[in-house]
Amino acid sequence: MKKVLITGGAGFIGSHVVRLFVEKYPEYHIYNLDALTYAGNLENLSDIENAPNYTFIKGDITEENFINELFSTHKFDSVIHLAAESHVDRSITDPLAFVKTNVIGTMILLNAFKTCWSDNFEDKLFYHISTDEVYGTLGETGLFTETTSYDPNSPYSASKASSDHFVRAYGETYGLPYVITNCSNNYGQNQFPEKLIPLFINNIINNKPLPVYGDGNYTRDWLYVKDHAIAIDLVFHKGKLGETYNIGGFNEWKNIDLVRLLCQQMDAKLNRVEGASEKLITYVKDRPGHDLRYAIDASKIKNELGWKPSVTFEEGLEKTIKWYLCNENWLHNVTSGAYKTYYQKQYN
Ligand code: NAD
Ligand code: TYD
Repeated sequence: MKKVLITGGAGFIGSHVVRLFVEKYPEYHIYNLDALTYAGNLENLSDIENAPNYTFIKGDITEENFINELFSTHKFDSVIHLAAESHVDRSITDPLAFVKTNVIGTMILLNAFKTCWSDNFEDKLFYHISTDEVYGTLGETGLFTETTSYDPNSPYSASKASSDHFVRAYGETYGLPYVITNCSNNYGQNQFPEKLIPLFINNIINNKPLPVYGDGNYTRDWLYVKDHAIAIDLVFHKGKLGETYNIGGFNEWKNIDLVRLLCQQMDAKLNRVEGASEKLITYVKDRPGHDLRYAIDASKIKNELGWKPSVTFEEGLEKTIKWYLCNENWLHNVTSGAYKTYYQKQYN
């Protein structure tokens, strides 16, 4: 039985990847390693927690002895590495935490994987999940391709860029079999309400201000999280070793246009008069080093592996809103306690 270690599987994207692999591949055993930081939540996986091919392991990828022992006990054939500190705003207030988990944690996993297989890597894979933010910012035109130079601007993107470089370096130096994907902004169910879409859904529900940074004319390329999970499955099984694939939604939105669409859909779902939620839009101080525009050219994964997004943005957003409205308990649980302190500090 193939043993697949998924790190960060209790988080937003990780939980969708874990579920897809557990349900689709009963012949694999899926180990979900997660430290359960503020962003990790086992409620995300309650529907599959008793599956016979699934094991949850609570643990921190920065604890070297623990990780080495884990690999020597289980001898994982493959790793899908998603565990990370993932929020740009938090990286601005606490950059070192991002270096610890995203850089050192990745290094510790790479070393453990390398030692475990003593450089005999037949049929093994280290799959590193990364972000388009490593490429820095675009102007009004152009797209990130797999050969765009790295030019990260935030502590988050710098830490992810660094981890990508180490993965590639282990491939070149030690022959470690790897693949990397760099994906655009994800949205969908189970996303922690610190990121734009779930934060604003939660604020609209509670009639709280919608804090748009700067003039709102920043552009992101949005992808529905389940389509990202499908792409990860495809790259895991069919991606070429030593390659990078960009994953994106072919779906660029200026923040302010996205927020207006969200407000319209929320008004309809909450039976509020048209325009009620838009009144909550509040322009606030900009994020330092705010990247103007991200947009992915995903033609490599489309042409080579036959992947494309399965839902339009309007459909994906509607599914997402519906999920948050039907899961107010989930929202309530993650926004009590430490979340309140974070919110206060971030948005004064
Ligand atoms: P998330 O913050 O929702 O989840 C991260 C998970 O990692 C959490 O479950 C957390 O408990 C766990 N974790 C954090 N530090 C850990 C540590 N030291 N040891 C073990 N577990 C730890 O993040 P996400 O949005 O699901 O992102 C997952 C991955 O995808 C990240 O590597 C991120 O850089 C990348 N990514 C995210 C997006 C996006 O839009 N969210 C886009 C592209 C790439
Ligand atoms: P975010 O979801 O934090 O993702 P990222 O910074 O990784 O792209 O933010 C998406 C965009 O929304 C980004 O341009 C910043 C902006 N934004 C706001 O305007 N207000 C907010 O409160 C947040 C969290 C983000």
